Amino acid sequence: MKLVFATHNLGKLQEVRELLSPDYEVIGLNDLGDHEEIEETALTLEGNAWIKARAVWEKHGLSCFSDDTGLEIEALNNAPGVFSARYAGQAKSPDANMDKVLTELNGVKNRKARFRTAVALVLQGEEYLFEGTVQGEITSVRSGVKGFGYDPIFSPDGFSGTFAEMDAATKNEISHRGLAMKKLVAFLSAH
Ligand code: IMP
Repeated sequence: MKLVFATHNLGKLQEVRELLSPDYEVIGLNDLGDHEEIEETALTLEGNAWIKARAVWEKHGLSCFSDDTGLEIEALNNAPGVFSARYAGQAKSPDANMDKVLTELNGVKNRKARFRTAVALVLQGEEYLFEGTVQGEITSVRSGVKGFGYDPIFSPDGFSGTFAEMDAATKNEISHRGLAMKKLVAFLSAH
């Protein structure tokens, strides 16, 4: 069965494609010749995930899933959350975003944070939602060069280093997105 992943990100697409083959043929928006950016205007991760999945179902009539992720920091009332990509401005600079977080947490004892991913699935018109979270702490300085986004300042519980010090396979095993995708795959495998 054909399933659309509502993303233009080829790295994400490849990762999920491997998880779902051969039962599902996962295609991205580029494969549909659809290069339009879907605006993420909701105030929650779930809301944005639904916007993308429903947009594809309505536009193309194909079953579709999408994901949206945010970093939720306890001492900042769960900010940056849905604004994680553009926390320090529309330039979406990971460096500026990390600087902003480190400045805001300067002198703050409670460093607890989590990454949370919402995955929305529209399967032949029926709607399903999956979630994955990983708990951890914001470090006081950057460490590591792997990964992307806030990885150099996020240390998952049970590990001594940051996500940016882990190889991709280890991160995928425990990460928010990995866990949410595993739930999606388990659901689809049973269908
Ligand atoms: P997206 O919904 O996957 O595009 O993620 C939104 C933003 O959250 C990204 O631009 C990053 O700033 C941050 N983010 C998402 N996943 C990760 C991750 O695994 N590590 C670090 N930052 C992440």
